[in-house]
Amino acid sequence: MIDPRPSGRTNSGGIVVTIDGPAGSGKTSTARKLAEILQYRHLDSGALYRLRESVPFDGWRGLTVSDLDKLDLQIVARDDRITMFWKQTEISSELRTVEVTERVSHVASLPQVRKWLLGTQKKLGANGRLIADGRDMGETVFPDAEVKIFLTASLEIRAKRRLLESSGDGFLNEMLRDEMERIRERDLADEDRQHSPLVQVADAIEVNTTELTFDGQVEILLEIVRDLTGTR
Ligand code: DC
Repeated sequence: MIDPRPSGRTNSGGIVVTIDGPAGSGKTSTARKLAEILQYRHLDSGALYRLRESVPFDGWRGLTVSDLDKLDLQIVARDDRITMFWKQTEISSELRTVEVTERVSHVASLPQVRKWLLGTQKKLGANGRLIADGRDMGETVFPDAEVKIFLTASLEIRAKRRLLESSGDGFLNEMLRDEMERIRERDLADEDRQHSPLVQVADAIEVNTTELTFDGQVEILLEIVRDLTGTR
């Protein structure tokens, strides 16, 4: 399932940075930018649970880890990029549709799916130089990561950012209310599930991005990484 070819750069000695937090807190975009600046790989672990085409929605619960291993899914890490292929076709571009988002909490709550993806994620961090974002990066996947960050923001600002991303700035109050409700439900599902729920681990540094610009939050995270690793 995984083809973690070594990157063209020297990977040895690099660190793993985890960024966990609730939906819409800016984890993925911040992690991507940080990886670009530091020339690390970026693992968007949420994307791994957004497997729309691979199995009909009702079918996930009944699958075992060995059934999942037989799916024609490939996670390929090369140079800077981690890409997913389903039946030889790259699927990254369709992962963030509303349809997939509505279903993803269910898929992510299933223990066999989490177990199936755990080894793959660990391998992606084996050589360091990785920025991994998600919900359980600091606790379950990379408990020994050198830098752990927990990104938060108010519910309203998280919903606004999601709407700006999907519909631009012309959204109505009603749309904002609906988006806040959707995010609240996903937060609850992610926090209350039995396996690998979203938690802030004790050794994570919390960064609240409610009042920050995107560039501002990237800058703060960069400082944290540099301070904790003694690099400039
Ligand atoms: O970060 P995201 O919105 O793409 O996450 C999609 C879903 O997957 C969300 O419901 C939380 C879940 N998820 C998870 O359970 N563990 C992760 N490491 C990443 C995401």
